[in-house]
Amino acid sequence: MGRLDDDTNWWKRTTVYQIYPRSFADSDGDGIGDLRGVIARLDYLAKLGVETLWLSPFYDSPQADFGYDIRDHFNVAPEYGTLEDTRRLIDEVHARGMKIVFDMVLNHTSDQHPWFLASRSSREGPLRDWYIWRDGSGKRGNKPPNNWRSMLGNNGWHHDPVTGQWYWASFLPFQPDLNYRNPEVKHAMLEVVRHWLRQGVDGLRLDIFNAIFKDASFANNPWSLRPIPSADNPHGFFQRNAHTIDHPDTLEFARELRLVVDDFRDPPRFLVGEVFGDPVTLRRYCGDKADGLHMVFLFKTLSLRFASRSVRSLITEIEAAFPEPFTPTYVFGNHDRPRLLHRLAGQTRKAKLFATLQLTVRGVPFIYYGEEIGMEHYEIPLVHGLDPVAVRHRHIPQWLARRMSHLGMLLNRDECRSPMQWHGGTHAGFTAGVVKPWLSLHPRASEVNVAAQEGDPESLLQCYRGLLSLRRRVPALRGGALELIEDAALPEQVVAYRRVLAQNGTRQVASVYLNFASRPADIAAPGHVGGALFSNLRADTTPFSGKHVLLPYEGVVLV
Ligand code: GLC
Repeated sequence: MGRLDDDTNWWKRTTVYQIYPRSFADSDGDGIGDLRGVIARLDYLAKLGVETLWLSPFYDSPQADFGYDIRDHFNVAPEYGTLEDTRRLIDEVHARGMKIVFDMVLNHTSDQHPWFLASRSSREGPLRDWYIWRDGSGKRGNKPPNNWRSMLGNNGWHHDPVTGQWYWASFLPFQPDLNYRNPEVKHAMLEVVRHWLRQGVDGLRLDIFNAIFKDASFANNPWSLRPIPSADNPHGFFQRNAHTIDHPDTLEFARELRLVVDDFRDPPRFLVGEVFGDPVTLRRYCGDKADGLHMVFLFKTLSLRFASRSVRSLITEIEAAFPEPFTPTYVFGNHDRPRLLHRLAGQTRKAKLFATLQLTVRGVPFIYYGEEIGMEHYEIPLVHGLDPVAVRHRHIPQWLARRMSHLGMLLNRDECRSPMQWHGGTHAGFTAGVVKPWLSLHPRASEVNVAAQEGDPESLLQCYRGLLSLRRRVPALRGGALELIEDAALPEQVVAYRRVLAQNGTRQVASVYLNFASRPADIAAPGHVGGALFSNLRADTTPFSGKHVLLPYEGVVLV
C-alpha cells in the first residue's frame, strides 16, 4: 500500500472529472464550448472537490468525430481556443491545487492529417508505411483483404481509388489506424506524448488502446456466435477479434509507454487506458509487475445493476483482479454511454447511493460532467444525430436504437453530450451568445441545473460535494485496503465494507454501509460508537451511537 504522504502515488488516490470541452462552457458565444469556458468554471470544480480534470480532445481536427480525429497533435482547434489558452488552463488548474489530464488518440489520426494525405498519395512515398495498407482479395483485388470488422461492426478495410489498395480503420473510415510496426510512427507518437507531458500535463487518457497493434499475419478473425459487443466483452458482430485487439505487442507497448511517462518525475504522471474486456484481461495492460499502464477503465460499472448482489459480486471481482499494487477505476458514465441517472430511471436517491459507492470504494472514481447534478439524456432520433456513429446507423429503426441503448450501446452519442446545465436561464448558462448551442439542451435544463441545486442541502450536487470532501478528509477512504464485511446479521440488501489504512503504527478504519433496497435496514457497528456518521441523505455529520436504521437507498460512512 502506498504511503499517503508519499506523493509519487498521488494518482492512486485522486478523483477524476471528465470534461467534454464542446459541451461544458462557451465563453465566446459561438455555441461551442471552449477552453476559456473551462477556465471560467474552474472555481466551480474546485468547490465541487474533484482533484483531477480530464478533457476530451480539443486538438486541431476536422471534427468529424468531434476531436477524436486529430489533424495536428500540436495545435488547438480554433473553436476551442489557442495554445496560449491551453497553457493558461494548465496553470490555472495547478494554481488551484488540481491536476489535469489530456486525451491521447494514439491508435489513429484524421484522414486529413498531413501524414495520411502523404501516405495515401502514392504507394512509393516515404509515409506509405505509416498506415496499414494491403492489397484487396479476390481475383481483381476488389474485396477487402480479410474479414476483420471494425469496432462498429462493418468491415474495417476501406478501398482507396488513388493507389488501388485498402487501408485499415478500427473505428470510423475517416480515422485510419497508424502502423506501429513502423518504428518511425512509434517514435513520432512518443514525441507527441512527451510534448504534452513537457507542457505540464499530469496524465494521459489513451483512446481505444486495445487496438494499437494488429496481428502481422493478417489472418481472418474466427467466427463467433456473439451478435453485439459490450464494454466487458468486445467480441461481437459474429466474430472473435483475435487478431485485431489485445495483441501481445500492445501489452509490450504499454510497458514502453510507462517508461516514457516515468521519465517525468516532478511531479509523477499517469496513464489510463480505454480498453474493453473482463477485469482479468484488462489487468494485463497494467503489466504483470504493475509496470504497464497505471490504470485502465473498468466499464462493468456502466451496466451495473442497482442491486446489492450485483454490487457485491462486482467489488469482489474487481478486488480479485486488481489487488495492490494495482488500482481499479470506477466509471459510471462517459461521452459514449448512456448517462447514469438515465439508467436509474431518474431516481436521484439511487444516484446518491451509487455516488456513495463510487467515492468510498477502493479505486479511482471517474465522474462525467453533469453526473453531479443528475443530468439525464433524452432520445434524439438517429436521423437528427450529429454524432458520426448515429449518422452511420441512420437506417436503423428507432425502436432498435432504444433497445441497444438499454443494453448500454448508445448509437446516438449526442444524447449523452448535451450542454452542461449551469442555471435556469437562457441556454442554461452554457453560452451567453445568441447562437444556439451546438447540441440542444436537455428539455429539463431549467429545473435540473447547478444554480437550482447550489443552495439546496438535499440536492445531488451537495451529496457529491459532501462525499468528495469526506474522501479528502479521511485518508482510509483514499488509500485504505478494502475488506468486505461478511456479517450474518447484516441484511442481504446491504453492501458493507471497511477501508483500512495502517500507517505509522496506527490503524484507521472507515466502514461503509449501503442499502440497495426500498425498505429500511438495521445495522450495528459497535467498533464505531462515538465516531462520526456521514449519510448520503443528510447534510450534517452526526455522532454514531452503535446502531442505525438505514433509510431506503441510504448509504453511511462511519469514521
Ligand atoms: C473512443 C472514444 C470515442 C471515439 C472513438 C474513436 O472510444 O471514447 O468517443 O469516437 O474512441 O476515437
